[in-house]
Amino acid sequence: MRGERVGVVGAGTMGAGIAKLAAGAGIEVVMHDPDADALAVGVERAGEDITSAGELDGLGGCTLVIEAAPEQLDLKRELFARLESVCGADAVLATNTSSLSVTAVAAGAERPGRIVGMHFFNPPTRMKLVEVIAGDDSSDAALGATTAMAEAMGRTPIRARDSVGFVANRCARPFTLESLRMLGEGVGTHDEIDRVCRVAGGFRMGAFELMDLIGIDVNFAVARSFFDQSFGEPRWRPHPIQQRMVDSGRLGRKSGRGFYDYSGAEHRPADPERVPEELESAIMPRLAACIANEGCFALGDRVATEEDINTAMRLGFNWPLGPTEWGERLGWSRALGTLEELRELHGDAYRPAADLRRRASSR
Ligand SMILES: NC(=O)c1ccc[n+]([C@@H]2O[C@H](COP(=O)([O-])OP(=O)(O)OC[C@H]3O[C@@H](n4cnc5c(N)ncnc54)[C@H](O)[C@@H]3O)[C@@H](O)[C@H]2O)c1
Repeated sequence: MRGERVGVVGAGTMGAGIAKLAAGAGIEVVMHDPDADALAVGVERAGEDITSAGELDGLGGCTLVIEAAPEQLDLKRELFARLESVCGADAVLATNTSSLSVTAVAAGAERPGRIVGMHFFNPPTRMKLVEVIAGDDSSDAALGATTAMAEAMGRTPIRARDSVGFVANRCARPFTLESLRMLGEGVGTHDEIDRVCRVAGGFRMGAFELMDLIGIDVNFAVARSFFDQSFGEPRWRPHPIQQRMVDSGRLGRKSGRGFYDYSGAEHRPADPERVPEELESAIMPRLAACIANEGCFALGDRVATEEDINTAMRLGFNWPLGPTEWGERLGWSRALGTLEELRELHGDAYRPAADLRRRASSR
């Protein structure tokens, strides 16, 4: 986008990646971080022609500023208040927050209409998805400009409502939580559940490998945040296994051991062509039904369109199918039957969404 000057605030993991992506797309980029060392490392990691700004004032003249500072509400609010005075009245100010409310970040701003969410996935240069999040006061013009900028960066933007976890992180909840519940009940071991997900489900990674990669402590913190923000939604209740792993220091790859042991060359054997039928039928319908159910709850909460929800899961998490596509594959009445049976046994974590019931009765 010729003539556009994009500011990036925070030169850490996400800031450096976003700066690299924007500069690689031919956009003029200026990046700020109050920590001089972090700024130098971030500019080097971005590896493109980027202007570094030791002071926030250096972002004057930017048409869009993307904030990727630490995930703290007060810090972000203060940053936006300062950005409002540094940037021109027409500049769009975007936050890359993954868990805070965009409306809350914009609270107290003089012009909250120009504040939006622009949620990239890690690493931004590889993950195609950008969630453009509308806060209560975000203007259509600001949302449109953010969407156009995401496209100019070669990303696929989807529109999301300001809500807990937005789209992709929310719809990914059942992948890990249902896998943990199945592990807890002894439906399979962690490596059996992961293998079924890869071989029969077409996921690139099973939930336990994924948690090991992200960090079991990081994943647990996200799980707790969803549960707290929803005031105890049963579907989002973290699992005691997560607490036990964290307490034992088994945090995943970074600590050498999580669900898998990383001390050897390979943490698991190569996959077979098929998995045992009885294991697949114990695992896949449960997982597919829970994934479809979360997608239906998200639709009921008007978080995004069905197409955008499915796109978000394919591009944000490399899933082979989006939530309602899993429902179609399993069959909606089978999904409902699976959830009702599990609810009878285990409670409201399996409460079917109204939208899922409707689909089951109309097909
Ligand atoms: N890491 C991820 O996978 C990921 C994915 C999507 C969104 N996010 C979100 O992106 C944001 C940044 O996350 P990250 O992983 O890049 O964090 P990070 O810790 O790697 O980087 C944060 C950077 O912000 C800088 N910083 C600290 N105080 C600042 C201030 N007052 N003003 C400007 N910069 C300041 C730090 O020096 C650091 O360089 C968070 O809101 C996070 O929730 C992270």
